[in-house]
Amino acid sequence: MILDSRDLSIKGVSLDNGIATSFSIADPIEFMGSKFTIQIQPGTQKVNITYATSPDAAALQWLDPSQTAGGKKPFLFTQSQAILARTWIPLQDSPGIKFTYNATIKCPNDLMALMSAENDTTIHADGIYKFKMPQPISSYLMALSVGDLQFRSLGDNCGVFAEPSMIDKSAWEFADLKKMITSAEELYGPYAWGRYDVLVLPPSFPFGGMENPRITFATPTIIAGDRSLVALVAHELAHSWSGNLVTNATWNDFWLNEGFTVYFETRIMEKIYGKAYADMLTLLSLGELKETIDAMGDTSKDTHLYLDLAGRDPDEGVSDIAYEKGRFFLTSIEMAIGRERWDAFVNNYFSTYAFQSMDTKSFLEYLEKELIKGDSKLREQINANAWVYGPGLPANCPVITSVELEKAGKAAADFKSGNPAKSLNTSEWTTHHWMYFLRNLNDSLDLKKMTELDATFNFTNSGNSEIQCEWYQHAIASNYEVAFPAMEKFLLHVGRRKFLKPIYSELAKTPSGLERGRAIYKKARPGYHAVATQTIDAILKWEL
Ligand code: BES
Ligand code: ZN
Repeated sequence: MILDSRDLSIKGVSLDNGIATSFSIADPIEFMGSKFTIQIQPGTQKVNITYATSPDAAALQWLDPSQTAGGKKPFLFTQSQAILARTWIPLQDSPGIKFTYNATIKCPNDLMALMSAENDTTIHADGIYKFKMPQPISSYLMALSVGDLQFRSLGDNCGVFAEPSMIDKSAWEFADLKKMITSAEELYGPYAWGRYDVLVLPPSFPFGGMENPRITFATPTIIAGDRSLVALVAHELAHSWSGNLVTNATWNDFWLNEGFTVYFETRIMEKIYGKAYADMLTLLSLGELKETIDAMGDTSKDTHLYLDLAGRDPDEGVSDIAYEKGRFFLTSIEMAIGRERWDAFVNNYFSTYAFQSMDTKSFLEYLEKELIKGDSKLREQINANAWVYGPGLPANCPVITSVELEKAGKAAADFKSGNPAKSLNTSEWTTHHWMYFLRNLNDSLDLKKMTELDATFNFTNSGNSEIQCEWYQHAIASNYEVAFPAMEKFLLHVGRRKFLKPIYSELAKTPSGLERGRAIYKKARPGYHAVATQTIDAILKWEL
């Protein structure tokens, strides 16, 4: 039997009821780890492995009390996607392989343990927690978290876990959770996993969210106080169908997970908050996608939906291509055939392949068989090959307009052409108007304009992580030093890679910025998760 392992110390392996057996651990290969070969016998029913993880296992982040909201108790969380599960469990670490599991976790008795499984919502005085995941899942969905946690119900079969000081704010922010589940089920069929809860993690969590089955792990940076960043929860919930139920067979097929999920997320948002709101999200994303394609070069093979990650860390496949090009491909099909036919197709797709995996080629065959059905005009119109096996954005990419964001775009143009900040009509604006406004100012800002904007809108002290991220990039580009202390505080506090990457990249553009960036990173790095340091080390050319 061959398993994946990385940085594990294997103490012993036995078969069935304790018959010792031989095993070998191959020399490690960068990011893949070591092939772990176990001698089994015909008829072997059970393999018992005694092992320990390494203190710097890439999936695990062990937090000091000072890195938590409460500041008093330590915290542990895992992040297994894409191929980090092997750093805490020896297993077959490929998304196309599924298994059920049972687990017993013993932790300090003032802490609570949660897994991607059936969870109790109360603390156990003996510190022992038993978990059962009866439905088959892929290894990248293995998850564990231990900390000073509390639970709050948000309706039938759903709720939120958070540290005590975050629980009220979290429950308020996610008040629409039940509505999201109901909307998702109305769109694409019954939720297959029993409960759906969200766990709000400490700020070093390197992602926005992670769709661990039954319990989404989420960054606290979406607790904005105005519910403006909850699309992320719709996204992770949508993965309960696209990804967790029908799973990308390999990481080259990653767009099947993320493209479908962004599409589904947007449909949930549209259903609950209306089309004008969904259009804002979609137009912002289209802008990001175009920037990503520009940066990669529109002939780059990494802009194909079907990726070629041979010999590379699958983490390199995580880009707007899978998410946004994937979503716009699906949106373009919807537009070609109409929502009703498309939704029926997607419903069938999820129910036909539930608890299985899917690769790109099989998906395109299914599309042909169930939807195109030999209609050559439709096949041409959809142009799947250009989307999946070709670069950049095909000509039938949907055109997105947003009446709301146009207002913010116009305000940005007005400001650039000399209108005072005070004269802009921003009274009804939401987070997304501000993001669009800030993005449309490009590199046009001098110190005087930065000072004026800050005096009028107080961006430097914004409590909204998305706005902070946009603003600090401008501050770096225009050397607006007033914002630097707040930026440093943000970088020391938040470990979400999506924010760290653009800010450190902007800093790295000039020698003095790079020096500042490295000085901040030196202090911040010990508090970041391995997933984040891997990316930022490269940006800052950090040597260990
Ligand atoms: N499954 C991803 C996170 C992920 C992808 C982790 C690949 C490791 C490798 C999750 O669903 C996700 O996409 N999170 C996004 C938020 C989303 C709203 C786009 C994130 O973390 O920013
Ligand atoms: Zn996702």
